[in-house]
Amino acid sequence: MNSINRVVSKFESIFKNSPLLISSPGRINLIGEHTDYNDGFVLPAAIDKNMIFGFSKNNLKKLRIFSMDYDQMFECNINEIQKSDVRWANYILGVIDQFQKAGYSMKGFNFVFTSTIPIGAGMASSAALECGIAFVLNTLFKLAIPISDQVKYAQKAEHTFAGVFCGIMDQFASMMGKKDHAIKLDCRSLEYDYIPVKLEEYQFVLCNSGVKHELVDSEYNTRRNECEAGVVVIKKDYPEVSHLRDVTLNMLNTIRTEIPPAVFKRCKHVIEENERVNKACDALKQENMYAFGELMYESHSGLSKLYEVSCDELDFLVDFTRNNANVLGARMMGGGFGGCTINLIKRSAKKSFIKDITKAYKDHFNIDLECYDVEIKDGTSIID
Ligand code: GLA
Repeated sequence: MNSINRVVSKFESIFKNSPLLISSPGRINLIGEHTDYNDGFVLPAAIDKNMIFGFSKNNLKKLRIFSMDYDQMFECNINEIQKSDVRWANYILGVIDQFQKAGYSMKGFNFVFTSTIPIGAGMASSAALECGIAFVLNTLFKLAIPISDQVKYAQKAEHTFAGVFCGIMDQFASMMGKKDHAIKLDCRSLEYDYIPVKLEEYQFVLCNSGVKHELVDSEYNTRRNECEAGVVVIKKDYPEVSHLRDVTLNMLNTIRTEIPPAVFKRCKHVIEENERVNKACDALKQENMYAFGELMYESHSGLSKLYEVSCDELDFLVDFTRNNANVLGARMMGGGFGGCTINLIKRSAKKSFIKDITKAYKDHFNIDLECYDVEIKDGTSIID
């Protein structure tokens, strides 16, 4: 049974009526890592790994949510939303809380969901959940909330109920994705362009390191603070600067001795990574996948050596591909300290690529590598 049928059948058996259905996808990020909260550029895309939600109003004041993956029911009063000890429920509660704070009123509803997005793999399963619930609430209660506001509420939910001060990339990509296109998003203005991704004889493969180092959330927030610390100093000479987006390498070099070396490195990565997003878009438009792949490797080096959010496992997976002529580019993807690498490889070499890298990884770390093909799909949408 596919995941849609499983949700329908579970919903009918618990709630005795038929649900409306939506799907909300995970995302990949082609390039532009740790640039979003610096008001910079990113290039993500929604993928064919998603969450499926079944839902309907109930005539109670109750929120009744069943997670099929945790095999767990969560209930509460819709007018008494607060953080819960049930971790997965917080992503949902956080969005409801944001909607309520913005003055939207909602009644009780029933909700069943499942996911095909691997958890902790850096494919933004939490954003898929947040965007999915935003879409559900907007649909169910006819709230007519502009889509960009839904995205912002979903992001804010992650700040308030999950405690991670993420940028807007994941939620934007999950909600706004378009089949066979990447989204070049300006995280300051939220203006965006859909860039066609014509892969032809190439494809993206994700390699899941299978690790999620504990520091991921705390280090994420630390990096954000380091970027802001850099901006505070740069501002003294360049008052027009509000985020690293406004800073050039020349400007950064003029204050090099005034900031700690770590802050210098963080800022340098962000400035260079922003430039790489622009170059990567040009490469995609010219269908120059080799140039694109080269930028992926450069991005990884910046993330590993300057931003210091990689780890031995991710570095190993990227380094292993460097001398493989069938791999055009590879880099860690997402927040870092674990999760996946994204690899641009020749389609014809997929089998041997997966076989070789899986063996090497097992030999080195004794971890079974999981690899996923990904296809670029539409964002959050109703299932007919
Ligand atoms: C996580 C965050 C995003 C972004 C990336 C790094 O996925 O949720 O907002 O900052 O890390 O690029």
